[in-house]
Amino acid sequence: MATIRVHELRKEFVTDTSSVVAIENISFEVTGHEFVSVVGPSGCGKSTLLNILSGIEPVTSGQVEITEGERRARMGYVFQAARLLPWRTVLDNLMFVQPTGGPQARQRCERYLDMVQLKHTAKQYPGQLSGGMQQRVGIARAFSIEPDMLLMDEPFSHLDAITARSLRRELHAMWMETKKTVLFVTHDVSEAVELSTRIVMLAKGGRLVADIPVELPFPRDPSSDDVALARADLLRRFESLDLLAT
Ligand SMILES: Nc1ncnc2c1ncn2[C@@H]1O[C@H](COP(=O)(O)OP(=O)(O)OP(=O)(O)O)[C@@H](O)[C@H]1O
Ligand SMILES: [Mg+2]
Repeated sequence: MATIRVHELRKEFVTDTSSVVAIENISFEVTGHEFVSVVGPSGCGKSTLLNILSGIEPVTSGQVEITEGERRARMGYVFQAARLLPWRTVLDNLMFVQPTGGPQARQRCERYLDMVQLKHTAKQYPGQLSGGMQQRVGIARAFSIEPDMLLMDEPFSHLDAITARSLRRELHAMWMETKKTVLFVTHDVSEAVELSTRIVMLAKGGRLVADIPVELPFPRDPSSDDVALARADLLRRFESLDLLAT
């Protein structure tokens, strides 16, 4: 079972002329088959948090532990833009991140392309695909390394409403099937309510101001009354927090 443990994490970006506190002393834990959304206004440290968890960015102080049993957990990262390699085919973009080559890796890549309904594009290049299709390849690529957990940074925010909606359904189905731990960054409260078992709210200055379980059964219909009520309740709670204050 994958676990993320963040303890008194602080991150300050210091340059010659300025310093910015992106994360201010936050602690939380995520474990097992959870889907946790991190929401908050622009600049509140969401991407910085994911970058620290994935090891791209060092911490200023505090501890971050990402484990699967006794070992370090393997992570799949889905970026805001798909970030595919344009000179490689769709299948080769997935093969590129596999620890080993060979027919088994190839089968695994094809299986995840199939999961996002894009097996037929295996030999095409990213430039031949729409934005939504490229994003689905990015999701298949993250799943294809069979990670213990997935970190996703606003993966649907560039997409039109209809494509985003169908990708949310696909992601939810894949999360149910694979039982991964997901940490999902979004600034869209509706999306967070539809997908999450828990919502962590950050405010400006990188402070953690709320950690709220979402106890609605799945599947959740975004237009149903209970989802609308949960959304309204959350928005009320968020409005009462001083999210933009430093
Ligand atoms: N490499 C960097 N060097 C200096 N400052 C940085 C760096 N990366 C982020 N920051 C600053 O840290 C703060 C948090 O940035 P971050 O990208 O984590 O925000 P975010 O919540 O992901 O915002 P958005 O919703 O707009 O993507 C911002 O003030 C940003 O300017
Ligand atoms: Mg960001």
